[in-house]
Amino acid sequence: MLPKWRFKPAVHEVDAFNPEIALAPWAGHRQFAYDYIVNIRPHVVVELGTFHGCAFFSFCQAAKDEGLDWTTLHAVDTWLGTKHDTFYGEEVFETFRNLCSRCYGGLPTRLVRKLFNEAVSDFADGSIDLLHIDGTHTYGAVEEDYANWLPKMAPEGVVFLHDVFTERHGTTRFWRELTLTHPSLLFEHCFGLGLLFPKGDKLYRHLVDLGLPGLAPFYRRIGELEMAVVQERAAGLARTEADVNRLLAEKDEEQARQRQAMEDAVREARAEAAASKQQAEAWWQAAQDAQWKLDQLEGKGL
Ligand SMILES: C[S@@+](CC[C@H](N)C(=O)[O-])C[C@H]1O[C@@H](n2cnc3c(N)ncnc32)[C@H](O)[C@@H]1O
Repeated sequence: MLPKWRFKPAVHEVDAFNPEIALAPWAGHRQFAYDYIVNIRPHVVVELGTFHGCAFFSFCQAAKDEGLDWTTLHAVDTWLGTKHDTFYGEEVFETFRNLCSRCYGGLPTRLVRKLFNEAVSDFADGSIDLLHIDGTHTYGAVEEDYANWLPKMAPEGVVFLHDVFTERHGTTRFWRELTLTHPSLLFEHCFGLGLLFPKGDKLYRHLVDLGLPGLAPFYRRIGELEMAVVQERAAGLARTEADVNRLLAEKDEEQARQRQAMEDAVREARAEAAASKQQAEAWWQAAQDAQWKLDQLEGKGL
């Protein structure tokens, strides 16, 4: 499959201000999330469960870098935590809000500080292009979030679901059930990120056409390397700068390899297209010759 998916290495501005973000369990999916926005350019993005903003800010970073001022980005959370995970203090929301305006102040972002089932009526039916569900990970909670928000999904909308490749949460079982009846794609690393296409398969087929399923191992490797760099850094003095540099170099090599593979594929496709054009011209010429011969024969009354 020819990859036509655009890969654009991301630099997440927020990391310089809040190191927690790059350490979040979601962090290994950031490059994919960023590229998803770059390639698909959704209009309405909604996240259920934002916390420090690891996923949300990767959407914002892509929208900012691509100048997508028509993309509205909505973060829904009580910013209180839950009894299933942990409750946290007001400083989480304060830091999130400050970073959002500091780094992405020019974007149409909206912070909706409500329970998910209170916020749902703020959105029109059929309006959401990308919904990321990452709230409470029990089976019952995710089932309720999905059912409440499904009517809000646009006809070709996609649902991202986190924590769907781990036995520690009910989300995995719920995800498996959903995939029995809907097209889906899965990134298994970092606890699993699933993409579900609940209302139509056009976008799914488009992503397959772009070669996305074949890129899963690449995003896995990039995610793992990024996490390793951050963890090495967080380990502080126990690790040498040389270790960090080695990982960074490995990540750069992986990205360069991927870019090279894409360039080769494009070159191959161009060569194929040129060959087909030549072939078509030859057929056209043969048809013209045949027509000419026919005209000659008919002219001779044969
Ligand atoms: C796992 S964290 C989200 C992680 C985040 N998406 C990231 O990229 O790191 C879950 C968040 O969902 C919020 N949450 C869970 N259930 C909720 C509900 N029913 N209504 C509003 N917020 C909820 C919690 O407050 C918490 O901040």
